[in-house]
Amino acid sequence: MEEYGIYEKLTTKSHSMNIEAENYLPGGSSRAAAYFEPYPFFADRAEGHYIYDVDGNKFLDFMLNATTHILGHNNPLVADAVKKQIGKGLSYGVPAESQIKLSKMICDRVESVDKIRFTNSGTEATLNAIRLARAFTGRHKIAKIEGGYHGTHEYVSVSVSHDITSKQNGFLGAPEWPGQPPSVLQDVLVFPYNDISAVENLISKHGNELACIILEPVFSNIGYVPASQEFINKLREVTVKAGILLIFDEVQSFRLSHGGAQEKLGVKPDLTTFGKIIGGGMPVGAWGGSKDLMELYNPLNGPVIEHSGTFNANPMTMVAGEATLRQLTKEKYFELNQMGKRVRLELQAVFDELEIPARVTGIGSLFGMHFANHDVVDYRTMKLADQHMKKAMFKGMLDRGILLFGKCTGALSLATGEKEIEQLIDSATDVASTTLKTMVV
Ligand SMILES: Cc1ncc(COP(=O)(O)O)c(C=O)c1O
Repeated sequence: MEEYGIYEKLTTKSHSMNIEAENYLPGGSSRAAAYFEPYPFFADRAEGHYIYDVDGNKFLDFMLNATTHILGHNNPLVADAVKKQIGKGLSYGVPAESQIKLSKMICDRVESVDKIRFTNSGTEATLNAIRLARAFTGRHKIAKIEGGYHGTHEYVSVSVSHDITSKQNGFLGAPEWPGQPPSVLQDVLVFPYNDISAVENLISKHGNELACIILEPVFSNIGYVPASQEFINKLREVTVKAGILLIFDEVQSFRLSHGGAQEKLGVKPDLTTFGKIIGGGMPVGAWGGSKDLMELYNPLNGPVIEHSGTFNANPMTMVAGEATLRQLTKEKYFELNQMGKRVRLELQAVFDELEIPARVTGIGSLFGMHFANHDVVDYRTMKLADQHMKKAMFKGMLDRGILLFGKCTGALSLATGEKEIEQLIDSATDVASTTLKTMVV
């Protein structure tokens, strides 16, 4: 992909496949996050930092299956572990030792997690964590951050991608699709990120009805903006006082350190949800917390909550997850996070030098780009940034053989090296100086 603006020219086979796929899959897709304009390319294979498409092109991948591939694609040790497991059977209706190994690894790393349960997606992880909070407290309302994404089940599909001009009083959630039950919208309360007075207000009105507050300690949907220390400390304090369980959704942020974002922030939630990296590229989700909470699933006690799933803790996922986490030593996280810092600084410098109003956000190995003269601190400030420039940046990078998330965010991996960083920065400079410069008003 060496010329400019040639994505469509070089991806004709992918284009045909998209058209064929539309016959059987709405929009040719089964996943909103995997769709982008003009159409996604179809993958043939992936290795290290690169995805090779069906037309024979090679894309430098900073999307990394929504941040999952922290070691890069097709890591040899992970691939070996999976191959070995294939020889022993794909899934069983009884447990295998691999689930002890992975659960021990996560419980050892995350101080707030004594026990954990596995499932097959981050969606199921947040669904189950919220259910547990409700069962434990006997309360039914929950609260979430405006714009926060926690998967696709009903109780988190409120105020995720709504229009900010829509009228809402801040406490009533905005529906994500027509026909959402009014009871869901009444039971899911919403407040802005990093706004402690909004939380205090919410708790003063609804504290004794709230089972939990769920949030990401690093807000992915707005470009990986970490919660301010003051906000997260205060949130912990007020939730303890009101008997509300605090759930950290670390499906993405667990890639920030050995013990996740909670270790970096020094705050212990009651429950944590996991996904992505802990499955090493295989389908996964998990949630965990203190013994007291997790005992509600114990079959020897009743149990209070039945939780089942044909593929929960399946050995293919468990061995891939274990082989991944085993390679993620504290030194490797440090290396990754240092690289992330460099990428964010260099991207910001590109826009500053060209006098393009931009804010590069992110933390650790994660980055996001926004085109605005204001800081991005919550959903509304993210939405107020220039969305046309964001789209142009994404497409400009795609034309230069670089895959980002459609919202112009990205992640690094242990396969990221000097060459990949240079290509990212050079391509961003090129898109900024040619396309974006002409869009500045
Ligand atoms: C923070 C967060 N929570 C939950 C989910 C849902 O995970 P899954 O796509 O595995 O259902 C995602 C997915 O991107 C996520 O980013």
